[in-house]
Amino acid sequence: MNMNMYMSSLSFIMNNPTFKIFNLSNYINSYNYKYVITAFILWFATILICVLITNDRMRGFMPLLSDPDDLDYLGDFSNITKEDKLLDRVLKKASMEDNTVILTVVNEAWTKPGSALDQFLESFHIGDQTVKLLDHLVIVSLDVESYKRCKSVHQHCAPLSTPGIDFSMQSNFMTDRYVKMMWRRIDFLGTVLQKGYNFIFTDADVLWFRNPLPMFHNEEDIQFSCDHYRGNPHDLKKGDPNGGFNFVKSNIRTIKFFKFWYDSRLKYPGSRTQVVLNNIKLDPYINEIGLRIRFLDTVYFGGFCEMSRDFDKVRTIHTNCCIGLNRKVLDLKAMLEDWKRFRSPTSIKNSNLGSWSVPKNCSMKPIV
Ligand SMILES: *[C@@H]1O[C@H](CO)[C@@H](O)[C@H](O)[C@H]1NC(C)=O
Ligand SMILES: *[C@@H]1O[C@H](CO)[C@@H](O)[C@H](O)[C@H]1NC(C)=O
Repeated sequence: MNMNMYMSSLSFIMNNPTFKIFNLSNYINSYNYKYVITAFILWFATILICVLITNDRMRGFMPLLSDPDDLDYLGDFSNITKEDKLLDRVLKKASMEDNTVILTVVNEAWTKPGSALDQFLESFHIGDQTVKLLDHLVIVSLDVESYKRCKSVHQHCAPLSTPGIDFSMQSNFMTDRYVKMMWRRIDFLGTVLQKGYNFIFTDADVLWFRNPLPMFHNEEDIQFSCDHYRGNPHDLKKGDPNGGFNFVKSNIRTIKFFKFWYDSRLKYPGSRTQVVLNNIKLDPYINEIGLRIRFLDTVYFGGFCEMSRDFDKVRTIHTNCCIGLNRKVLDLKAMLEDWKRFRSPTSIKNSNLGSWSVPKNCSMKPIV
């Protein structure tokens, strides 16, 4: 079909009143309906191609348009070279203007449909102006299945393999695999700092109800959420840091600190990251490198150890002080419902609505 025909069918569309009314029988009977339909298909195809090429989110669903390295990757999950290249690309795409990314690390058990990742992502959608933060969230997967699942629900996914260890199963608190998984995470976060990215690290069992960024202090290097807030944001002795939610700036001090933290696992064999953190937080080395640590108040960054009671102030809530993924999932869901009730326009903000129904299923009782 030549250009003239194309133009004439276009002008037919513009000029023919039946097109505007879209009366199908007139339309079919008209003498050059073939050209109209062809023009329409061409127009539609052009729009579709433009949308596919420019929309990053669509790329995940369009294998032909996605990065070839990315496709290969599923075939050889622990190719460290490829993994690092992918990570660089994902961090670059996801970072904010000041090189900050939001990071979470997940495995297969946590990313099964209906499991924690779903509630985590939902909180961004129903939170107060948190949905735009999803553009900066990188979901880091410890195994193939969670990587695939990430690719189907989110735009920024990075693989993090550990040769020789399968992290896909649910690892309960304090099991050997759990401890190793937590250390892998510290090692990884150190790498991200070395690459020059600041990060907000969040466990996937933290719900995001409001943007935490305005609550961070610019002059600090590391800001930790805590199990219990003792009133003084700088009291390292009493401070009770929780690794499940923190904001870390990339600089020479934090890079040294994460290396120190990771290396200290050898000094305290079998200990989990948080125990080692509590042991090293008063080490003279921290002062020596000049690291500035601050604790975040549970009024804003709460958890099940110490709840953020005020719905008007809460930013994030962590299902800490809770053993077992199934219990967490039940309470994460209950918390989302509490939040929806609080936010619903018909809710009269009486005292009943202003309190959480959780923890319900969560507890520190071991799972038998
Ligand atoms: C890893 O992937 C790279 C290409 O990105 C390839 O050259 C290399 O041979 C792979 N290594 C292994 C161990 O498969
Ligand atoms: C969770 O808690 C609710 C309320 O206390 C209880 O009815 C339910 O049986 C619990 N579910 C599980 C699986 O423990």
